Amino acid sequence: HFNKARYLMSAPTLALCPPETGVEVCFAGRSNAGKSSAINTLTRNGKLARTSKTPGRTQMINFFTLGDPDLRLVDLPGYGFAKVPLAMKREWDKNMGEYLQERQSLVGMVLLMDVRHPMQEFDSTMINWAVDADMPVHILLTKADKLKRGPAQSTLLAIRKHLKDAQVDDLVSVQLFSSLKRDGLDQLNQVLQGWMQV
Ligand code: GTP
Ligand code: MG
Repeated sequence: HFNKARYLMSAPTLALCPPETGVEVCFAGRSNAGKSSAINTLTRNGKLARTSKTPGRTQMINFFTLGDPDLRLVDLPGYGFAKVPLAMKREWDKNMGEYLQERQSLVGMVLLMDVRHPMQEFDSTMINWAVDADMPVHILLTKADKLKRGPAQSTLLAIRKHLKDAQVDDLVSVQLFSSLKRDGLDQLNQVLQGWMQV
């Protein structure tokens, strides 16, 4: 299914999103974490979601269908350090919050964090929101190619321990991922197939 992905539409607000039928999975995380790149890697289509070296590339809620209009991936704008006016940032945060908390078709969140800077301020807030809504979260520690195997593994284990200590490990899972090397793709595929039952 993932290689049948097509761009559907972009919406600035929850009210303008497509009908809430079927199931969708969103890709969330700080600006520049690699959300759009991960969608492109997963769907084997380097041009599907727009990526950029400059944080703040993705500015709307972007929908992609997977062959079937009732199966969707959603690329969200990043939070954190987008160089946009504060009023605009507040507007995005509000729209994202509404999308995450109210969207009926949302079955899971892929939460991306740069493996070199995991669990930053708003990342924990995202996890808490999802857990409160009983929604599964799968964390991708992205750009794993930027670290040696040892440090990457210890970051992974530290985050697993953190999730266990916080007693959210039944809903929240974590893996290493690299769009550049296509590492961790099978694991991500399996999680998404489980959530979307495809
Ligand atoms: P916003 O839309 O601004 O929130 O960013 P995003 O999270 O969608 O990030 P995007 O996919 O646009 O990637 C940001 C930058 O990181 C780009 O220059 C990518 O080429 C780079 N990048 C993404 N994934 C990887 C990876 O696995 N390894 C390396 N080395 N670079 C990556
Ligand atoms: Mg993006």
